[in-house]
Amino acid sequence: MSRRDIAWYENPEIKGLFIKAASNAMRGYHAPITSPKTTFTGTNSLTDFINHLGAFLKDGEKRVLIVVDKDLRKFGEKVAERLATLRGIDSRLFDNVLPDVPKYTVSEGVEICKEYDPKVIISVGGGSAIDTSKMILLYYERPEINLNNLMAPSYLGLRKKVHWLVAIPTTSGTGAETTFIAVVSDTDRDPPKKTEVVLYELCPDFAVLVPEFVKTMPPYLTMGTGIDALAHAMGSYVLTMSTDFSDMCNLKAIELILKYLPRSVKRGNDMEAREKMQLAAYIAGLGFGNVSGGIEHSMGHSFGALFHVHHGVCVGLFLCASIAYQSKVTNRFLDLARLFSVNTEGRKRNEILKELLEKLREFMRSAKCPISIRELEQPKISKEDYLANIDQMVEFAFNDYCTLSSSRKIDPPQYRKIFLMSYDNKIEDLMELYYK
Ligand SMILES: NC(=O)c1ccc[n+]([C@@H]2O[C@H](COP(=O)([O-])OP(=O)(O)OC[C@H]3O[C@@H](n4cnc5c(N)ncnc54)[C@H](O)[C@@H]3O)[C@@H](O)[C@H]2O)c1
Ligand SMILES: [Fe+2]
Repeated sequence: MSRRDIAWYENPEIKGLFIKAASNAMRGYHAPITSPKTTFTGTNSLTDFINHLGAFLKDGEKRVLIVVDKDLRKFGEKVAERLATLRGIDSRLFDNVLPDVPKYTVSEGVEICKEYDPKVIISVGGGSAIDTSKMILLYYERPEINLNNLMAPSYLGLRKKVHWLVAIPTTSGTGAETTFIAVVSDTDRDPPKKTEVVLYELCPDFAVLVPEFVKTMPPYLTMGTGIDALAHAMGSYVLTMSTDFSDMCNLKAIELILKYLPRSVKRGNDMEAREKMQLAAYIAGLGFGNVSGGIEHSMGHSFGALFHVHHGVCVGLFLCASIAYQSKVTNRFLDLARLFSVNTEGRKRNEILKELLEKLREFMRSAKCPISIRELEQPKISKEDYLANIDQMVEFAFNDYCTLSSSRKIDPPQYRKIFLMSYDNKIEDLMELYYK
């Protein structure tokens, strides 16, 4: 593969410079704080949003593309019906969203835009639908763009054809409704690699949190997406590039997730827990989205691309390792320990870290999340199969965007060590990552 075919952050010279500065280089790079203009929340959120939209769209502009996956068509149809009845807004449904966002589905959406000329794009779904809508906007407006050269502040002047990008999440985890990131599978590469497209202009203009739409999530999806939100908040909190703004968001998100995720998994119709988790995922999105995902995301993306496990479970499996590895060079885990009710007064760092990791694992178990690859049920992965893929996982992880922000320098041999121990994820092996 030539250098022209890889993203800028995979280029060894550029990556070398970032890794050398270990998280510090990224601090200045991600200085702007982005978020949607307005986030509509509560039981009336959809009506509020549609009234707002109707007041702004001129006659002749009332065309909306709704991006949804086939299983969630009913939610897309509900939005379409409300657009029409409340404000006479026409819409079309694109329902071919697929998990992991293969590039070819984005092209299908762009073709519909060329013919329909929508003025608003609304995604209704999980991270896959929201990321698909971001990519449709990007390629519709700038078809010639080379994803490999895009950096967050590339400022392409998007929204000349489409006025607004809107996200209505139906899962509570990715925070994609507030981030300027789109994760796509580059199906032009063999094997396909998950690529992060990071561009400030991809932040949705509006987010609409409709509690009713997350109520139908089954327990495994509730758990997986909730653990994703936890990994966003904890994984980015331990990055030394974090800011006062991201700290505020991440700490609050963790507090909410610890309280409300087990309740949402246990009783799907506990609407207080559902609403709190919806907000927690959004707040964690504001937190990590304005900093970066941690190395649990580098490893989770790589493992997920090869074994097709839910994204949140993937990053959860590497969360303890990410915290243990980086705690050697930063005290930021101490604040996390306090949130997990670990006494930090007058105790040694290693004792605090060990107790934090134990409490985190207990919490994951209480939310019904597997804590090692050996324990995974969906799907079961044999040790042989896992080890056979380790070279590819190491390569993908090292070439992942999140590698650039690690608080502690990381290289392929270190990634290999973490992948090797993660099959069993024993507490003594996790502590070894901290010591060595
Ligand atoms: N852009 C970002 O900032 C960002 C952040 C984290 C993750 N991601 C990406 O998001 C994707 C994962 O998104 P996800 O976890 O939300 O899952 P998803 O969007 O891939 O959806 C998973 C499945 O859940 C179903 N589903 C969604 N909502 C439902 C509901 N309310 N009731 C019943 N079923 C429902 C969907 O139909 C689908 O079959 C990954 O590709 C990941 O890389 C993006
Ligand atoms: Fe994530």
